[in-house]
Amino acid sequence: MRVLLFTGKGGVGKSTVAAGTAALAAAAGHRTLVLSTDAAHSLADAFDVRVGSEPTMVAERLYVQQVDAQLRFEQSWAEIQGYLLTVLDVAGVDPVAAEELTVIPGAEEVLALLELRLQAGSGQWDVIIVDCAPTAETLRLLALPEALGWYMTRVFPIERRVVKTLKPVLSRAAGVPMPEDSVFDAVERLHRELDEVRALLSGPEASVRLVLTPEQVVLAEARRSYTTLSLFGYRVDGVIANRVFPAEGADDWRAGWVVSQDAVMERVAESFVGLPVWRSVYRPAEPVGVPALSDLAAEVYGADDPLASPVGQGPFRIDRTDRGAVLHLALPFVSRAEVDLARNGDELVITLRAADTGSGVGSYRRLLTLPAVLARYRTAGARVERGELQVRFEERAEERAT
Ligand SMILES: Nc1ncnc2c1ncn2[C@@H]1O[C@H](COP(=O)(O)OP(=O)(O)O)[C@@H](O)[C@H]1O
Ligand SMILES: [Mg+2]
Repeated sequence: MRVLLFTGKGGVGKSTVAAGTAALAAAAGHRTLVLSTDAAHSLADAFDVRVGSEPTMVAERLYVQQVDAQLRFEQSWAEIQGYLLTVLDVAGVDPVAAEELTVIPGAEEVLALLELRLQAGSGQWDVIIVDCAPTAETLRLLALPEALGWYMTRVFPIERRVVKTLKPVLSRAAGVPMPEDSVFDAVERLHRELDEVRALLSGPEASVRLVLTPEQVVLAEARRSYTTLSLFGYRVDGVIANRVFPAEGADDWRAGWVVSQDAVMERVAESFVGLPVWRSVYRPAEPVGVPALSDLAAEVYGADDPLASPVGQGPFRIDRTDRGAVLHLALPFVSRAEVDLARNGDELVITLRAADTGSGVGSYRRLLTLPAVLARYRTAGARVERGELQVRFEERAEERAT
């Protein structure tokens, strides 16, 4: 099963391109679902049909679904939020403020992705296309299970047992209600489900496509997304430049746009070397309905297969050397000076710092749980080369001596 995500700044044409790609997939004989996790549901407008929170058929083999993010949020978070609210209540926090505090920014979008897990597991689809929220940045929240891995396997079960036995005593002593078993269950379930979604989205059959329009600010955001997505292990396999003005027969006003778009398109090409950059012209009318969307997508991909599995190296790989191994992590646009590395047992902490003169990527941190083969080694050095962070691991001296 192929999974394709479309992301990009608001209004660039994510829903349009996602819907068009889905229409092509269905026409090619694949059972296709296109689902949107973006709260601004434009899929219904693109197809010009009423779409519910369950898959709705819009053409042969083509189904559309708009995930009810609010509902999903309540299902997954309500139990945990309820507990947090009682704690904040005891602490004297104003209920309205407490409500605000227990909402994690971006959480709704990520929880909407839990639907992907259900649909992927249903066996009903050959292709699932996700029309994502404006910035794929929220996908980094999916790294939470990985970051909490150590805590969840080693500390959490103990804590749970301790709380269970000592609950009456602790509640009285601390004056704070202790979580019920159901809260622990909810945390564990959420952890597992998010981890499954992350595994699905970083797997070999999944990839992300960046949609942009040829404008400086839009490109800047697409570049940032490319870096963050790579850092968190998601594979970007193509870029779609949408709403490109045709040069033929342009009046002065449009000719001005053609020139400035050309300049940005050159920067697009430089920014995404090694990735296909597909184009779609600015149409005289909104592409609405299956035929118009299919037309647009057919023009975008030309002779390329829109569903081709990503080829080449993914964002993350490990090469063995005689003395140890080298970990390669794609980090486009970033310089060595912007990367901090720290080692904490079997975890590697990678921090991107926004340097003054740097890429403008922003600050991010990923806690990468090292595979067992690497965890035994010491980190011997790191460099950034051709958009890739390379971390060298070597046997420890004492191991070599024995
Ligand atoms: N190539 C294009 N030519 C003309 N209009 C377009 C094109 N691509 C998208 N649009 C229109 O632009 C608007 C925004 O597109 P949409 O796909 O909803 O963006 P997003 O999902 O990124 O917010 C819609 O009205 C859509 O019909
Ligand atoms: Mg949209």
